[in-house]
Amino acid sequence: METSCDETAAAVVTDVGEMRANVVSSQADLHARFGGVVPEIASRRHLELVVPVVREALAQAGATLDDIQTVAVTQGPGLIGALLVGLSAAKALAWARRLPLVPVDHLHGHVASLYLEPHPLEPPFLCLLASGGHTMLLHVREPGAHTVLGTTLDDAAGEAFDKGARLLSLGYPGGAELDRLAREGDPEAFGFPVARVAGLDFSFSGVKTALLYEVRGLEHELPERRADLAASYQRAIVRALVERTRAAAEQTGAERIAVVGGVAANAELRASLPEAKAPPLELCTDNAAMIASAARFAEAVPYPRYLALDAYASAS
Ligand code: KG4
Ligand code: ZN
Repeated sequence: METSCDETAAAVVTDVGEMRANVVSSQADLHARFGGVVPEIASRRHLELVVPVVREALAQAGATLDDIQTVAVTQGPGLIGALLVGLSAAKALAWARRLPLVPVDHLHGHVASLYLEPHPLEPPFLCLLASGGHTMLLHVREPGAHTVLGTTLDDAAGEAFDKGARLLSLGYPGGAELDRLAREGDPEAFGFPVARVAGLDFSFSGVKTALLYEVRGLEHELPERRADLAASYQRAIVRALVERTRAAAEQTGAERIAVVGGVAANAELRASLPEAKAPPLELCTDNAAMIASAARFAEAVPYPRYLALDAYASAS
């Protein structure tokens, strides 16, 4: 189960990583008019959806609770109230059936989206994790064990996409919408800079400000330049991600590269890093199959000790 942000998700995955069901109920529509996720609204909606979503996953898998051996759930990082709904529901389910429970770190979950059948990737590899909350370069030594080589100093790449989409009036969350609009525009029309920071870190706050100034300067010309702006803005973000990923691969001598997280769904990023393995689109954005996948490589907490577990909002 996964409820760290605004997706209520449940999946059924076998112990060898075959996906039997992967149900995601997005609350995006509910938050769109606020221009972002409202934590309290997210928690309440998770509360309403968590049981139906679990039921739906079981139904799609042709399974009942009798077939479930382990319950896995995202413990953090994320919105604390949202996480607590998933964690409490998972505890209740596991406790009622006397099953073990595996608390999973959301970031490990994104990486573990690569371990699902039918084409699992085997560590070691270099992994770019780019989502709405994180942008990191990881050296993955083995499932569940990685070293952070670089991270964003300010905004996450997905956040940059969302803020750019908002400036272009594309709604929330705007990453996928900006991706679509960019296909109709000229990526060289505007020269958006992306800050070059030392080492393998990222910075995306400057490019967002550059877009803001262009949008203001264009005034009434804006409507006919939106596609060009989207394409050029996306080009700048993707370039930064690709450059840093290739630099990290060179430095570490990594033979395999992977990209995961919501931004890994981006068409230009996937095309610009053809050597990288990327999960299918539905496994890039938040889902529960990746959480179940990660649980296969983590230690389960036996009944009933997990009742004492707490959720955590941030990584450390
Ligand atoms: O991994 P994810 O579902 O949630 C987090 O853990 O944050 O990532 C969501 C992020 C959002 O910022 C969304 O705009 C972005 O991924 N995203 C995209 C695309 N699809 C989702 N960004 C660029 N292009 C896309 N096609
Ligand atoms: Zn995520």
